[in-house]
Amino acid sequence: MNDSAGDNDTLTPDRSDGGVKYHKRDFWSEENLKFSRPHFRMRKCARMINKLARGRELDLLDVGCGPAALRNLLDSNINYHGIDIAIQEPAPNLLEVDLVAAPVKFGDKQFDIVVAQGFFEYVGEFQARKFAEISELLRPGGTFIVTYINFGHRNREIYWPYSNVQQLQEFRASLARYFQIDRSFPVAHNWNHSTPQKKWLQAVQMPVDLNIPVVGPVLASEYFFICSPHAAQQAQGLARRSVRTDQVTVWISLARRCGEFTVSAAASSSGVTPRLLSVLSAPTSTP
Ligand SMILES: C[S@@+](CC[C@H](N)C(=O)[O-])C[C@H]1O[C@@H](n2cnc3c(N)ncnc32)[C@H](O)[C@@H]1O
Repeated sequence: MNDSAGDNDTLTPDRSDGGVKYHKRDFWSEENLKFSRPHFRMRKCARMINKLARGRELDLLDVGCGPAALRNLLDSNINYHGIDIAIQEPAPNLLEVDLVAAPVKFGDKQFDIVVAQGFFEYVGEFQARKFAEISELLRPGGTFIVTYINFGHRNREIYWPYSNVQQLQEFRASLARYFQIDRSFPVAHNWNHSTPQKKWLQAVQMPVDLNIPVVGPVLASEYFFICSPHAAQQAQGLARRSVRTDQVTVWISLARRCGEFTVSAAASSSGVTPRLLSVLSAPTSTP
């Protein structure tokens, strides 16, 4: 199933007719059945989410959810929603959408946590657009958890349907334009470019979220990135959606604290001043 890249240093995505090949519903409706049973990364991710939620009632969106196996690992206080090109068993909280052709959106819903595990390797040239869409779905104070394969692994393997293959530094730089990256660490370390299969190796690595210098970059199979939205980006999203002005004001003050606006804005709960509005309508530094 995996095509080894061997010594070839060029990270080449799956191409046909000179362009990036995107696999559609007919391919994924069979392929994503391979993710029906919770695997190591998913169990580690669920553990992190349950810890993050600390019993609070939260709304979560699983982007590229596949057969929604994550749902069964989450505590009951987390309201699960999933979106995928091939939904296996339709349900009101699952949406079937081709996210290369349409935005990441679940009606008008906003979320406290958005997760995208094993999804960004398939988005071809739409990576930045998907980050922007996800950043607008997050509630203030929300968290985006995303994974990406470590293509710097010593024994790199490139699964043939990938359409978005790059080194981790490039992925991180693109992500950082849309989110504040709070933490990033390997999902697991392994001599081969796969999740360790031995039970004891999994048990040892399950609670570990360490970056080991030198070893990590060559033995990490993939990475977790735990992100918060940039305040400025969210303020713009809120303004575009014409939300209540007092909500916008809260975000402006947050953005100011983060040093993303140079104006000293007099934000008050009574509304947005004309000066602030001009700041909000100005383009951010993010593309
Ligand atoms: C490697 S699987 C990961 C599934 C699950 N997140 C997991 O970690 O087990 C990739 C998922 O992305 C979905 N996917 C791929 N391309 C997509 C697209 N254009 N739009 C929506 N979903 C897509 C596939 O259907 C599949 O469920």
